[in-house]
Amino acid sequence: MRYLALAALTSVATADYVWPGPNDHMEDLLYLQSGFNRFGFVDGILSCAFGQNVRGRQNSAEWIRTAYHDMSTADVDAGTGGLDASIMFETMRDENKGSAFNNTFGHLHSFHTTRSTGADLLALAVVGSMSVCGGHDVPLRVGRIDATEAGRTGVPEPQQDLETHTKMFAMQGFNQTEMIELVACGHTLGGVHHEDFPEITGDDTEGNVTAFEYDDSQFTFDNKVVTEYLANKTSNPLVSGANDTMNSDKRIFAADGGATMRALSDATHFQSRCATLMARMIDTVPSTVTLSEPLTPIDVKPYVNTLALNANGTVDFSGYVRVHYGGDTGRSADDLSASITYVNRAGKTVSKPVQAVRPTWRDGTATGFGGISFVFFEWDTQVDAEEGISAFNIFVTTKSTNETVEYDNGGKGFPVKDTVLFQQKQSCQTFTQNESGGYDGSLTIAAAVRDDAIDNTSASELALHYAMHVPQGAVLERLETQVEPFVQTEQKIAGYTLFEVKNMAINDKSDSTTFDISLGGETAVEFQKTGALSQESCVPLVQ
Ligand code: HEM
Ligand SMILES: *[C@@H]1O[C@H](CO)[C@@H](O)[C@H](O)[C@H]1NC(C)=O
Ligand SMILES: *[C@@H]1O[C@H](CO)[C@@H](O)[C@H](O)[C@H]1NC(C)=O
Ligand SMILES: *[C@@H]1O[C@H](CO)[C@@H](O)[C@H](O)[C@H]1NC(C)=O
Ligand SMILES: *[C@@H]1O[C@H](CO)[C@@H](O)[C@H](O)[C@H]1NC(C)=O
Ligand SMILES: *[C@@H]1O[C@H](CO)[C@@H](O)[C@H](O)[C@H]1NC(C)=O
Ligand SMILES: *[C@@H]1O[C@H](CO)[C@@H](O)[C@H](O)[C@H]1NC(C)=O
Ligand SMILES: *[C@@H]1O[C@H](CO)[C@@H](O)[C@H](O)[C@H]1NC(C)=O
Ligand SMILES: *[C@@H]1O[C@H](CO)[C@@H](O)[C@H](O)[C@H]1NC(C)=O
Ligand SMILES: *[C@@H]1O[C@H](CO)[C@@H](O)[C@H](O)[C@H]1NC(C)=O
Repeated sequence: MRYLALAALTSVATADYVWPGPNDHMEDLLYLQSGFNRFGFVDGILSCAFGQNVRGRQNSAEWIRTAYHDMSTADVDAGTGGLDASIMFETMRDENKGSAFNNTFGHLHSFHTTRSTGADLLALAVVGSMSVCGGHDVPLRVGRIDATEAGRTGVPEPQQDLETHTKMFAMQGFNQTEMIELVACGHTLGGVHHEDFPEITGDDTEGNVTAFEYDDSQFTFDNKVVTEYLANKTSNPLVSGANDTMNSDKRIFAADGGATMRALSDATHFQSRCATLMARMIDTVPSTVTLSEPLTPIDVKPYVNTLALNANGTVDFSGYVRVHYGGDTGRSADDLSASITYVNRAGKTVSKPVQAVRPTWRDGTATGFGGISFVFFEWDTQVDAEEGISAFNIFVTTKSTNETVEYDNGGKGFPVKDTVLFQQKQSCQTFTQNESGGYDGSLTIAAAVRDDAIDNTSASELALHYAMHVPQGAVLERLETQVEPFVQTEQKIAGYTLFEVKNMAINDKSDSTTFDISLGGETAVEFQKTGALSQESCVPLVQ
């Protein structure tokens, strides 16, 4: 975004993004890989070769193969299948040999929430792998829905003939040219494992691996898979394997007489075709799914970390302002400062600007896939509970020019709802070992509700919406919303009454999940993480 500083204070009038947005969490997973406030999806692909030091394991390759196998049972004419994570129910099929699929979902597991489906995470896994391995950027669209059971069979296998493969790819929506391209793009990484396909590698030594290529290029997203093939020097076991029946890449690469492979010998063309086709691969979804526009880094994005009542009648209000810098933003992290102002319940600006401070931890900066950089500023203030808060605005100053830009979220400010406050310190979860050696969990969630809101709505309509993890015979559990009514307590402070859901039984798979709180059927508190709760005991709110 560019603007001219005509006055000391510039207002950003047109903001296409309005906070909070439905894809905020996926945007965090995509762009906050390392540094301050990192979400850490990259930890599974610290390098393109990374595989937790397990011999022959390359996570980037496993993730891309998993995405392809998941997508490959799509029937685009019928609008069924595609990237829907159904592969997690299909790992015992002959067409899905190896541990790659469960390994992949094992990584996705800790990122699986009500705002990040398994299928969207699998798409992110492809985007991240391409980025880490040196491919061109693949845009990430989100909104995929997870299958709840296995889908049809039909993943291509090496012993099948060219006609079968061509038909299978056509069903997936790829013509002959695109089939050749997608296979070449997929098979630039990783290899054929002896333990999965000894009949191809001719070696059944357990745990051994044969790469598609001899050199380190299996760890780089490059077109050697093409150039070595064209030079008749390929080590690709699906081209030069001893048993010709299993040489499916040989048949596919030669399907059009070599024209597509010759075109792919141009490195730039290869990269551009691979990024396009990988995007099409992950965007092949059931017709019932509507994908978002590709995610782009949100320019200035706030995070409210705390909005909770204190015993003395103040409300803790803390959070971060995240500012995109570098690239074509024209911003330099060290030349920025930030502050906020907030508006009370009656709509009046009550405070002088609250300075947001750049954290010292990791310099307050973070980076994501695609080299996108952000700098954070942290605010921590207290609001008078009687006056309340309804919105805040953000001010970002360029220190060298003293130019300040106001961000008001498209005019109305960044909204804050203070009718229901989640009392994190008064909430907790514990796990105790039971007689059969498992763990039984107990969850307590406290909330403060404004008395005038209770007057309007029956208090019994205050409900916890808890994302319970329910085992479903796959690595990812099903997220089932459990609705639990809150119970009113005797405690009243500064126009608020405390409510709680006390000692709700939870299973050991749900130790790190999320919940919402609704009042009178409307969401009042959103997407709070239970992983942040005390494992000890709830701290009472004492006056
Ligand atoms: C006719 C189509 C295809 C056949 C028959 C085929 C077959 C195979 C076989 C047999 C392996 C070895 C798996 C192992 O030992 O773990 C493999 C690996 C792999 N395939 Fe394919 N494949 C096809 C298409 C694709 C496509 C379209 C992609 C992605 C765009 C892809 C991505 C990969 C990757 C990344 C690996 C390496 C996995 C690793 O190293 O763990 N494949 N493929
Ligand atoms: C496949 O589709 C692309 C894009 O429409 C086209 O350029 C290409 O010629 C097609 N290939 C075949 C074999 O039809
Ligand atoms: C593993 O594979 C490599 C390459 O194919 C081969 O040289 C080696 O003998 C195999 N066995 C072991 C135990 O490494
Ligand atoms: C590779 O082998 C094919 C078939 O044997 C031959 O036509 C082609 O000229 C060879 N290419 C090179 C670069 O040697
Ligand atoms: C080659 O592979 C096919 C398909 O798996 C198999 O039926 C055949 O017996 C194999 N041939 C040899 C010589 O191993
Ligand atoms: C109110 O309580 C909070 C939390 O204990 C404390 O940080 C704050 O300083 C207190 N404010 C006043 C005005 O006493
Ligand atoms: C920015 O404003 C401060 C205080 O108003 C002033 O001291 C400083 O000289 C100004 N800097 C520039 C570059 O205008
Ligand atoms: C013990 O905990 C496990 C794991 O959470 C659970 O599946 C099992 O039902 C519990 N057993 C008893 C006797 O409560
Ligand atoms: C409660 O209802 C009154 C009257 O309809 C309204 O003015 C007030 O804003 C409502 N309070 C809340 C918190 O919704
Ligand atoms: C993958 O994990 C699921 C669920 O734990 C399990 O049922 C399945 O057998 C596993 N598949 C493989 C190939 O190990």
